[in-house]
Amino acid sequence: MTYAQFHQRSLTERDAFWTEQAALIDWQQPPQQVCDYSNPPFARWFVGGTTNLCHNAVDRHVAARGDQAALIAVSTETDTERVYTYAELQREVERMAASLKSLGVGKGDRVLIYMPMIAEAAFAMLACARIGALHTVVFGGFASGALASRIDDAEPVVIVSADGGSRGGKPVPYKPLLDAAISLAAHKPAAVLLVDRGLVSMNYTAGRDHRWSDLRQQHLDARVPCEWVDATHPSYTLYTSGTTGKPKGVQRDTGGYAVALAASMKHIFQGNPGETYFSTSDIGWVVGHSYIVYGPLIAGMATIVYEGLPTRPDAGIWWQLVEKYKVTRMFSAPTAVRVLKKQDPAYLSKYDLSSLKALYLAGEPLDEPTAQWISSALNVPIIDNYWQTESGWPILTLANGVQAQTSKFGSPGVAMYGYDVKLFDESTGEELKGPNQKGVVAIEGPLPPGCMQTVWRDDQRFVNTYWKSIPGKLVYSTFDWGIRDEDGYFFILGRTDDVINVAGHRLGTREIEESISSHPNVAEVAVVGVADNLKGQVAMAFVVPKDASALDGDAARLKLEGEIMKVVDGQLGAVARPSRVLIVNVLPKTRSGKLLRRALQAVCEGRDPGDLTTMDDPAALQQVRELVQPG
Ligand code: PRX
Repeated sequence: MTYAQFHQRSLTERDAFWTEQAALIDWQQPPQQVCDYSNPPFARWFVGGTTNLCHNAVDRHVAARGDQAALIAVSTETDTERVYTYAELQREVERMAASLKSLGVGKGDRVLIYMPMIAEAAFAMLACARIGALHTVVFGGFASGALASRIDDAEPVVIVSADGGSRGGKPVPYKPLLDAAISLAAHKPAAVLLVDRGLVSMNYTAGRDHRWSDLRQQHLDARVPCEWVDATHPSYTLYTSGTTGKPKGVQRDTGGYAVALAASMKHIFQGNPGETYFSTSDIGWVVGHSYIVYGPLIAGMATIVYEGLPTRPDAGIWWQLVEKYKVTRMFSAPTAVRVLKKQDPAYLSKYDLSSLKALYLAGEPLDEPTAQWISSALNVPIIDNYWQTESGWPILTLANGVQAQTSKFGSPGVAMYGYDVKLFDESTGEELKGPNQKGVVAIEGPLPPGCMQTVWRDDQRFVNTYWKSIPGKLVYSTFDWGIRDEDGYFFILGRTDDVINVAGHRLGTREIEESISSHPNVAEVAVVGVADNLKGQVAMAFVVPKDASALDGDAARLKLEGEIMKVVDGQLGAVARPSRVLIVNVLPKTRSGKLLRRALQAVCEGRDPGDLTTMDDPAALQQVRELVQPG
């Protein structure tokens, strides 16, 4: 079967197609109905089936491969390396599950996980899945303000965290940020479970804080059976940024997600049991959920959980791991490759990389020079894949497990099976069927298994945000611009909304603006994403001060810039810190007061800002131009 036929069949014979994919996982009760789309845009997959994500990722492999590696935890920060077999992983997950239960966690409850890249983070995720609780992982790089808003939205019964992480050999405290977040939040968790790595000293709050080492010891021999849950039972929520300042809790189901990941491991990632998968992402992001933890384990592979920089102890560390653990499939982001490209190429030829079969890159546009460089350096296919937190698995890529297809530089590939991807004119809602027409990339419902079910506790927001943005059509908008060529290959041309992508990290400019606005001397602020050679994009902030009188000299301006960056660091985390904060007298706006972000972005990138006839004060852009293009 050609891939085109495979894709076609996934849409025209949807139920038969997904019934076949559903056989890739274990069910306690088989599904009665493949897809219930009686209440669009809400899709319910594998209705009547009962299963468990942890069973599929761990337990079902124990009999056949209990002694094989399941989780390989490597930290070049603490110089530790530990291989957990499937049997050992099962026991660790049971200890964690028993500990969570002892702290009051039950089916449907939320557990917030705020952790560095250590094995216990994966144990906690799997333990939640095991007992039917929902995990909400918050990226460890987020600070207390961002954490507090997620605590309030998720209302976790328990928070699992650690004393700290480490970056470049320096300890990064987590516990004080967590304490600050809990005191900021209106919701208070019943308990906090803390992994003490001995990196940073911790203050324990009596009655609330518990040591993982103590609870683990208490539950050393615990056996906690997997809780069979409905296929539609939510497995987790994961917050992501959108147009408004308030992050959305992307909610995912259980059965559809397990099937989607199992199918993707077969058709897209071609991972086989007993092989090793290495994804360099972080468990705080969707790639970490799908392709560090669940996908590789569902496929019976060993997965590497890596804490550390790609350049420390030297730029050969990833390749050293590939050689040592005979990695077959590797997943990373273009930014990381661009970082390595600046290093001595000898690091790549130093190791035996013959086990490696493909490198998958996602999260941001893959530029041609980067793709060319890594492709010739590794001599394996480089497979770009385009998707989103919302989708959970690739929307556009090449399903080489179905039929080998040639890649085109600059394109992440073709629509994946299950996805009816279309392009629409943003203002008229007309579908653009011809080749090479630019439009909004959208997906006709139902979204395939594995995609978001809804926005956590906000069905209306799910409908209004994603399904109402193309005039007159009930289709899911990705909020990305794209074109499709005559061969069905898509090219992604950037976001249609105010989301930016810094080093593969998705950030909402509104969230950054809200944080900056809390500085007492900020009257108005605009944050835009500006093209950057290394990070893809960086955030630039333009601030109108309340009181400009004290900002005459460069020193005073730099001081304010530094203060504002500190505010962002403290509230959101360094990951959201703008690369520059520039002080201006006025922001470019239309006469009706709408901020002209695109014009601002264009000027920062040295492009023509386009039609400015609606602009209120033409001088506004002139000042920006002088600031960003000195001389
Ligand atoms: O704008 C697209 C960009 O990243 C967004 C999704 O980010 P996130 O929710 O963090 O999920 C990342 C999952 C890999 C998209 O809307 N994006 C993602 N992959 C690509 C991409 N842009 C271009 N090419 C890609 N391969």
